[in-house]
Amino acid sequence: MLNRAVRKIRSMRFLKAYVGILPYIKPYSFRAMLAVTLCIPIGALDAVIALSLKPYTDSVMIEKSTQAAWYIPFAIVSFAIIQGILNYFATYLNTWVGGKITNDLKFKLYRKLLTFETAFFDKNCSGDVVFRFNADADAASSGLLVKLKMVVSRFFSSISLIITLIYNSWQLSVIAVVILGMIFIPITRVRAKVEETVSKFTAAASSIVTVYNESYTGNKTISSYNLAPHQENKLSSILKLMFRLNIKMTQRSSWLSPLMHIIVSIGIGLSIAYGSYLITTDQITNGNFVSFITALIMLYSPIKGLSGNVKDFQMTLMAIERVLKILGSETKIKNRVGAIELQGVNSGIEFKNVKFGYVSRKQILNNFSCKIQKGEKIAFVGKSGGGKTTVVNLLPRFYDVISGSIKIDGVDIRNYTLESLRNNISVVFQDNFLFSGTIRENILLGKHDAIEEEIEKALQIACLEEFIKSLKNGLDTQIGERGILLSGGQKQRIAIARAFIKNAPIIILDEATSALDNKSEETVQKAIDNLMVDKTVIFIAHRLSTIKNADRIVVIDDGCAVEIGTHEELMAIKNGLYKSLYKIHLKNGKKSLSYQHQMVNIKDSKKANEPVFENFSHL
Ligand SMILES: Nc1ncnc2c1ncn2[C@@H]1O[C@H](COP(=O)(O)OP(=O)(O)OP(=O)(O)O)[C@@H](O)[C@H]1O
Ligand SMILES: [Mg+2]
Repeated sequence: MLNRAVRKIRSMRFLKAYVGILPYIKPYSFRAMLAVTLCIPIGALDAVIALSLKPYTDSVMIEKSTQAAWYIPFAIVSFAIIQGILNYFATYLNTWVGGKITNDLKFKLYRKLLTFETAFFDKNCSGDVVFRFNADADAASSGLLVKLKMVVSRFFSSISLIITLIYNSWQLSVIAVVILGMIFIPITRVRAKVEETVSKFTAAASSIVTVYNESYTGNKTISSYNLAPHQENKLSSILKLMFRLNIKMTQRSSWLSPLMHIIVSIGIGLSIAYGSYLITTDQITNGNFVSFITALIMLYSPIKGLSGNVKDFQMTLMAIERVLKILGSETKIKNRVGAIELQGVNSGIEFKNVKFGYVSRKQILNNFSCKIQKGEKIAFVGKSGGGKTTVVNLLPRFYDVISGSIKIDGVDIRNYTLESLRNNISVVFQDNFLFSGTIRENILLGKHDAIEEEIEKALQIACLEEFIKSLKNGLDTQIGERGILLSGGQKQRIAIARAFIKNAPIIILDEATSALDNKSEETVQKAIDNLMVDKTVIFIAHRLSTIKNADRIVVIDDGCAVEIGTHEELMAIKNGLYKSLYKIHLKNGKKSLSYQHQMVNIKDSKKANEPVFENFSHL
């Protein structure tokens, strides 16, 4: 009873998946229908050989008539030619429609991927994404159409063969059809059994892609820490797991083949036994019998290879389900109904009692409040993990606040369109992402239609002019994947040029110079200073000279803005956190900085006389 209910739900699931994918076939419905329609005669013509064997046996073999001896072979060859031609067109149409649907699915999935919030990328590995957005689309659509063609032609082939069976002997047909029905009982059982293994196999296959990605992007870390054996072990254990899962799937599904073989043989055996009785009692002719057995063998033979198909079918079904799930999912961070356009900043930004956590159990920001006037340069400082990056991540809505609000000009940022909000903010990260292509292409990402003068200005602001002049191909120099052919400082400055050309009124700088060496830092700092002019700026910095230059400093501790004010104001707070941090740095002098078990060597500190908040933010 329970099993029946589970089976029913499963078959509904299968229907649901196929119905769900139908809208994607719709734009190509004519060709898809044509391909499917062609499969009807392709399947139905299977019966010709079996049918023709009756007159052949009866008139040529029994009555020794020569008439049928020439027209039957002729008919068989003619029908085979027709079947072949139809098959060609069906395959062509199928590939055409399949290719179109695959492309549409991939494009829609990719478009969906680009709308997903940052939290999605936090949670999912690159391998998962490649698998679920690319490979699943292939599996879903190609599997769907290949199987549709197979199912339709097999269905009509079965109908024509069953008609042939009934035409030859209804009594024998009853045996054949009952046996055929028995075959489907184990198939549904196997489908349920392989499902779990198939999904584990898919997860393992996607983690292989992640290992390759990590080996590519982390190749220097792998070399410097001699991690090759570690990576090898990682891959090897996934490969072993995949092997085990594959064997498990085979164990669970491959017993079907021999079982089918036995059931089919029982069907044929019973038919021969009962058929012999019917011949000897003159209830059917020899021709009927030969034709019947041929049709029966043709009907049963595809069934014997079903075990492999069950596994493939399950994979296709699950791929379709995953694709539909992604396409049906809603992005959490999106435009509200009636969202308005943000056109520049007039008065300022306000964080009010902001509470936020990446995961529900752990709150990172706890009633964070702070007001930033238009044109102000605000520095965020505080210990590592205090929540500085988290605060700035909320402004372009990489994440949304849990409670409280962030307002620009008195309007909650969630009431602005996402596009206009992000158009008004330029972010320069510590590690900026550059795309493969030329320097020009990367800068133009900030403004696609920038004119030559704008590019030149951006180069000047970002202190890139000299560097570009030194290149043979100038702005059109290829920079390699992720800008691998450039130094850290050059990458940063290209990112600054990109941010400048965007000309957004709000600038966020998240420790934009902390990954650089002394010389680069000075040039990049100059570029940053240029970028900041006339903008409202929030910057997370560690160098005291930069922090001191801020209009106001916000000290962030445990997700709260604990102190806000100018350098002097904060230094005036008795037992203030900023003051104590500053004192610690002064006390530790130029050599080293130790605070909360963290040692930061500053022997390469460039401005020797300046007290350095070297990695102030990492305390
Ligand atoms: N994507 C994330 N998912 C879950 N937790 C995160 C994520 N990013 C940061 N955290 C956690 O949030 C807390 C605050 O991190 P945040 O990056 O804001 O600190 P920070 O002040 O910028 O530190 P640092 O000075 O080291 O850059 C940390 O405990 C960190 O582990
Ligand atoms: Mg940070």
